[in-house]
Amino acid sequence: MAKFIIEGPSHLTGDIAVKGAKNSALKILPAALLSDEKITIKNLPKIEDVDLAIDLLEVLGAETRRDGDVLEVQIKEIKNVELNSLANKLRASIVFTGPLLARAGEVTFPHPGGCVIGAGTRPIDLFLEGFKALGAEVTESNGYYSIKAKKLKGAEYFFTTVSVTGTETLMMAAVLADGTTVLKNCACEPEISALADYLNRQGAKISGAGTPTMTINGVKKISAGIFTIIPDRIEAGTLAILAAATKSTLTMTDCRPAHLEILLNIFKKIGIKFEAGADYLKIFAPDKFRAYSIKTHEYPGFPTDLQSPYTVLATQASGVSIIHETIYDRRLLYTDMLAQMGADIIMCDPHRVVVNGPTKLYGRKLTSPDLRAGIAMIIAGLIAEGKTEIDNIYQIDRGYENIDSRLRALGAKIARLE
Ligand code: EPZ
Repeated sequence: MAKFIIEGPSHLTGDIAVKGAKNSALKILPAALLSDEKITIKNLPKIEDVDLAIDLLEVLGAETRRDGDVLEVQIKEIKNVELNSLANKLRASIVFTGPLLARAGEVTFPHPGGCVIGAGTRPIDLFLEGFKALGAEVTESNGYYSIKAKKLKGAEYFFTTVSVTGTETLMMAAVLADGTTVLKNCACEPEISALADYLNRQGAKISGAGTPTMTINGVKKISAGIFTIIPDRIEAGTLAILAAATKSTLTMTDCRPAHLEILLNIFKKIGIKFEAGADYLKIFAPDKFRAYSIKTHEYPGFPTDLQSPYTVLATQASGVSIIHETIYDRRLLYTDMLAQMGADIIMCDPHRVVVNGPTKLYGRKLTSPDLRAGIAMIIAGLIAEGKTEIDNIYQIDRGYENIDSRLRALGAKIARLE
């Protein structure tokens, strides 16, 4: 089992280019199913989840050609409507159901696996109810769902819980439906707007993307073109937090600070100095900074995917921070590992911890439970005195391309042991 060995404390310096957004790539790939023409996807991150999504597209009949961070995909005809093989390793495979149903009229898939966060197996009630609202027939037998619809019919659907992939999946299903679909209480993430802008350039008629109410006027077919994946705002935010937590001066290039307003406004409040341009963010090494409480919330609120890196930052802030994780169950479990490293953390309930800082951290043997907690372990290891060992680093490689070599280039003492 591969692991990372980190010698701390490490002060880093230099520039680091931010990669394409994993949670944009995992939606534009299934979107390729909506057209029989060739799509060219640029700035594709080289990470495990993307490789799995490409494998899944090939199972469905896609011809692909990859050259570095550029991928060409064409699905002239759908050869298979079953997502069974790879769906268990990739939670995001659920997004394939929308475009596949719109294109082929049917899809079969198991209850998605992948992420460990979220109570038990992640619920998919919003997807199934949404497909039924669009006139599809949904049946389930021994853990497999079968969705059928000769032609989806536009409808109104209200998300009783804001869901990012739910919004993206039903938006794509509605693109080729008969008539008008109105989706209410949608997620507003930048990745959704980027996807809608691309689909509109190919002939779709989507309005309101990036706001809670989206209207999609169905069209007969759409063409395909070039999609450049937007910078990964979660990776950029994580690296900004890493710079502040390790008291380093770092510049993140190829990023989009406009997607990080909540974090940057908190940095202003707590005394972390930075300089933000249209596509770069420079963090100046802070000597000290104040504590500030956060509550995770859908975009543009505090992203749940930055919660674990921010909690590590809170261990170095002066004062008391309450971290309230409102989106997922079990997304605070990693904090007991931070406590073992010396952090002063008290769990109030499964959704809230109180952090008192600053405290000295000491290297420990850790296990990465999910990709966002995994990268938080790396930040903790870079701050801690002594050696930190992190195993199960597959969970980190899933979402952060070559993270160890990119951090070594900044002066981090981190090694990968196969
Ligand atoms: C997306 O997950 C992201 N994944 C997650 O990033 C991110 O943490 C999450 O949005 C929130 O921002 C991708 O985009 C691939 P949700 P998603 O559906 O869409 C409940 C990462 O680290 N829910 O918005 O799966 C669910 O239980 C990943 O990159 C239902 O109740 O998350 C959760 O409490 C982790 N019924 C809440 O909605 C449903 O049918 C938000 O989940 C679906 C979801």
